[in-house]
Amino acid sequence: MHSEIIQGWPESLKKEFGPGKVHWIAETGSTNSDLLALLKNDRAGHLDLVVADYQTAGRGRRGDKWEAPAGKNLLFSVALELGEDKTLWTRLPHLTARILGSVVEDVLPMQKVQTKWPNDIYLDGKKLAGILVETIMIPKPYAVVGIGLNVNVRPEEFPTPIESLATSLYAHLDCESSRPFLLGLILREFFESYPNKLTRFDEVKDWLEERSFLKGKELLLETAAGTICGTGRGLGPGGELLVESAAGALHSIISAERIEINRAP
Ligand code: BTN
Repeated sequence: MHSEIIQGWPESLKKEFGPGKVHWIAETGSTNSDLLALLKNDRAGHLDLVVADYQTAGRGRRGDKWEAPAGKNLLFSVALELGEDKTLWTRLPHLTARILGSVVEDVLPMQKVQTKWPNDIYLDGKKLAGILVETIMIPKPYAVVGIGLNVNVRPEEFPTPIESLATSLYAHLDCESSRPFLLGLILREFFESYPNKLTRFDEVKDWLEERSFLKGKELLLETAAGTICGTGRGLGPGGELLVESAAGALHSIISAERIEINRAP
């Protein structure tokens, strides 16, 4: 798998990413949990990767499950060493969406993805990929960036509750894609964009805002500060969601437990 991942990479990057960086396993609970445990025990480092063909306890945001049939999709987690400036950490999920979205657009050149704040990737109004970023502080600060990208799953293979809400690359290409090759494209983007684009964030923000699924829509958000209703107005300078209430107040939202579209209070 390693040689397929680094196929087409420049020699300088290949040197930084030896075969020992890749832990590709047939089945596990959750690649995020595995990588967090490896980092905690000092058995992994920057840009180490856990990839699974199948997860028995795949995790999404807000405690949701992430399920996928065996061997069809990309299910992986990559470790990123975090810099000292904690104010930049919250930008990482948005940078990940930028990276993932642009790889999808390279593979599907006739398509523009939609980004659903904070970091879901949609195609034609259906979810294509999800991102779960977790952090660990000991032995040193790392982010574990978990990505589930629907690659070769057929539309009829999605579990019933999500079949009308989810899509895959296969559904758009009508042929299978190489998971290691796609993984290589994504990792290469991380090499090129992380951490530098966390400080030069305007380009990331503009790219995401241009593709924003929530911009202009009527939203109801449950946040730690209470329920907020209003119209999506794009993103703030650090990737915050801007929502304008009917009274004209502009809310800048960092996180929300729940977002509903087209909902008044
Ligand atoms: C979401 O949309 O809620 C985020 C989904 C993230 C799923 C991926 S699959 C690989 C990695 N391991 C996990 O347990 N979760 C992430």
